[in-house]
Amino acid sequence: MDGRFEGKVVLVTGGNRNTGLAIVERFVREGAKVYMCGSSEESTAKGAAELAARGLDVAGASEMRPYQVVSQACDISDAAQVDALMETIARESGRLDVLVNNAANQGLGHGGPLEMDPERFWDVLKTNVVGGFRVTQAACNRFFMKQESRGVVVFLSSNTAMRAIRKRTAYCASKGAINSMVRSLALDLAPLGIRVNCCAPGYIYTERWDVLDPAKAARRRLNCPLRKEASGADIAGVVAFLASDDSANMTGEIVTCDAGCSCQHMPEDVDV
Ligand SMILES: NC(=O)c1ccc[n+]([C@@H]2O[C@H](COP(=O)([O-])OP(=O)(O)OC[C@H]3O[C@@H](n4cnc5c(N)ncnc54)[C@H](OP(=O)(O)O)[C@@H]3O)[C@@H](O)[C@H]2O)c1
Repeated sequence: MDGRFEGKVVLVTGGNRNTGLAIVERFVREGAKVYMCGSSEESTAKGAAELAARGLDVAGASEMRPYQVVSQACDISDAAQVDALMETIARESGRLDVLVNNAANQGLGHGGPLEMDPERFWDVLKTNVVGGFRVTQAACNRFFMKQESRGVVVFLSSNTAMRAIRKRTAYCASKGAINSMVRSLALDLAPLGIRVNCCAPGYIYTERWDVLDPAKAARRRLNCPLRKEASGADIAGVVAFLASDDSANMTGEIVTCDAGCSCQHMPEDVDV
């Protein structure tokens, strides 16, 4: 497992907090140089500081060490910002081997489908679907198609693409669209030597759990056959597998990582 990404260049969108941070850390620890972005200068700088605190070599600290993270803010719903990030990667590294489309607008607080503002629905699609597509297209045209070794794309979807959660219409719709887009991209890009796969997590422990009512957290865990939500590192492991040659014969796959939630009809405490 060690060193699977030695000499590789990786881009993780939304790599500045929660699951994205764990994904960045995993690739760096396996030898990659990783570019990461949040949507703003402030959130990206915060993520860079957190990665440095975890002992990673964040760009600027030392150009000589083998492991590096480079951070640059990029709102993936903005074409000019995506271009600017690709320009930085081209100028500094001259190649890209792995793209992880992790950034997501969670579409929280929209209310139910009767009252939600369609403009906020569009915001979610603009980031999760169109943004993910835009970064993928740029990575393919700018890097993968010019490299003999091509490149690999991994999307983060959600088990809510298959089984909906309440008052998250835009988010669930966006994740369903990602699943379909992954199959479509995989089909068109496979003959060109580019693989596109997807990890569909269930509950992941994030900073949002820190402020969660403990009774609610316990109820969520009871909903998991494995009795535990994923850690960021659990998800990063699946993403790294899909980005590595260990999955060389896989494309267009949606790999669910949800503690067994999707295989059960009802949680254990529901009397059926
Ligand atoms: N957490 C879960 O339980 C769960 C479950 C299933 C699937 N997932 C999926 O797993 C992935 C990671 O989840 P998470 O909970 O760790 O995410 P999160 O905490 O909600 O963080 C989202 C990340 O996306 C970035 N982002 C949002 N809009 C962006 C934009 N327009 N341009 C660039 N970056 C943008 C955020 O940057 P800022 O800091 O700048 O806002 C942040 O880094 C997501 O795709 C999510 O949908 C999560």
